[in-house]
Amino acid sequence: MDELPIHSGDDVVRVRQRVRTVAAQNGLSLVDQTKLVTAASELARNTLVHGGGGVARIESVKSANGRAGVKLHFSDEGPGIADIDLALTDRWTTGTGLGLGLSGSRRLVDEFELNSKPGAGTSVMVVKWSR
Ligand SMILES: Nc1ncnc2c1ncn2[C@@H]1O[C@H](COP(=O)(O)OP(=O)(O)OP(=O)(O)O)[C@@H](O)[C@H]1O
Ligand SMILES: [Mg+2]
Repeated sequence: MDELPIHSGDDVVRVRQRVRTVAAQNGLSLVDQTKLVTAASELARNTLVHGGGGVARIESVKSANGRAGVKLHFSDEGPGIADIDLALTDRWTTGTGLGLGLSGSRRLVDEFELNSKPGAGTSVMVVKWSR
């Protein structure tokens, strides 16, 4: 498992690169690699911009039936999210973005779990399986 800090735009680039490498190592197709890297990019950017920085964990995983995959975990100790359903709505944003980062990421991966509480930070876990 890799643990990468997210405190700058350069860190986001490093997360993207590492996710691409691990996705390729686990046999994800080029299209699926790009989907996962795109999701990772959005989630890492949220960690940086909304969460005030945090950490990314990148892990190779195996499903019960032996399928390889990549699990990503992004966590921060920022302000958290008051209404998670709203945050996952297309085009909803508290900032100046398009509000498509979370909702778009969810569509690009196979598993998506968002945990957050106001004042208690945010944690997002995603998995993409090879097929
Ligand atoms: N790690 C986080 N900590 C706190 N709030 C967050 C976090 N991630 C997302 N949010 C909240 O959820 C909203 C929606 O996030 P989303 O990524 O979909 O849109 P955005 O970041 O505002 O715009 P963009 O389309 O550029 O990503 C954000 O505006 C922010 O209020
Ligand atoms: Mg975003």
